Amino acid sequence: MAKFRKIGILTSGGDAPGMNAAVRAVARKALDEGVEVVGILGGYSGLIHDNVVPFTPRTVSNIISRGGTVLYSDRCPEFKTEEGMQKAIATCKRHGIDAIVAMGGDGTFRGATDMTNHGIPTIGIPCTIDNDITATDYTIGFDSAMNTTMHMIDCLRDTCESHKRCNVVEVMGRDCGQIALFTALASGAVAAVVPEVAFDEREFLDRMKKLVDAGKRSFLVIVSEGVVTENGQKYGEVLAKKIDEETGVETKFARLAHVVRGGSPTLRDRFTATQMGVYAVQALLAGKSNIVICQIDSRIAELDINYALIADRMYKNKLKPGDLDAFSAEQVAAMRALAAQRQEEIEAVYKMVAQTSK
Ligand code: ADP
Ligand code: F6P
Repeated sequence: MAKFRKIGILTSGGDAPGMNAAVRAVARKALDEGVEVVGILGGYSGLIHDNVVPFTPRTVSNIISRGGTVLYSDRCPEFKTEEGMQKAIATCKRHGIDAIVAMGGDGTFRGATDMTNHGIPTIGIPCTIDNDITATDYTIGFDSAMNTTMHMIDCLRDTCESHKRCNVVEVMGRDCGQIALFTALASGAVAAVVPEVAFDEREFLDRMKKLVDAGKRSFLVIVSEGVVTENGQKYGEVLAKKIDEETGVETKFARLAHVVRGGSPTLRDRFTATQMGVYAVQALLAGKSNIVICQIDSRIAELDINYALIADRMYKNKLKPGDLDAFSAEQVAAMRALAAQRQEEIEAVYKMVAQTSK
């Protein structure tokens, strides 16, 4: 068992409901194991600027149900520089922090790898509402954000049905359409428009016209914010105008934006956050580092961060020359299989949206 005296916890990148539940789980499990805990405020910039607070079991009381992150979050470009990294390491030395649990998305995990390489073992916990970390089936915050999104779409449905209208709803998801896709299916939307699948606008407009003729009164179309036109316009707004003009159905546009990133986490997010938090501390104590905690086939597991980051780049078609050099042929094949599986999962839901909306 590795000897850790003190671990630090930080949250970084876009916040996600359930981050607090993960902070609580890491803190309580570590304290229970006799390891001291400090919170680092404001993500990696807290490390650079020495914003460190001691934790007791009571520090994390009553945060399991709270949205946002009590540790605050930040995007900190300075952390990517060697100078920033040296300041962060100096803070760790000053406080006797000998390991870190970093919660966030892929950028946060890149920072975690840098910390490990500079002598501070670091473990990542995936927290982002987008569910866009390829290596894990699930990221903390996804379920809460989707439920909030779904409830708001349901509200729009009520008024669309009363007034015989269509509502195009733009939802969060920078390069990832999962929130749009899943909430479209769950709210009976007539279409989802997402970055991962080509959208046939003509086919959709014709299909909608037929549904109007058949007597359908209300229409919902869910568009991921990451979908833009060739000249960079947000596609949701463009599509709303086209629907209005072509189908004769009065069409409104709504952008839900950051509102769905806040709010109390769902049971699934609190539960998964607790499982992952406890697992992260156990892994650290077992001497592991530079791993990301994942959920794979409903089980909590771990993957090497570098492997997870490269698998992610492969799925997102962002591989750089040399990225695969460090991996065996079997590992590369597994990454390709995972990327194909993720695309299949998305396409299956995409088809179901059209198949079930009549
Ligand atoms: P997310 O973790 O949600 O993807 P970001 O991409 O904003 O969010 O990354 C969060 C933080 O992680 C950044 O502000 C920065 O401090 C750190 N980070 C991001 N990319 C790198 C990198 N390539 N090297 C080191 N640190 C990074
Ligand atoms: O955390 C993911 C995310 O919420 C994306 O869905 C969204 O595009 C982005 O973050 C927004 O970031 P910011 O909070 O910087 O506007």
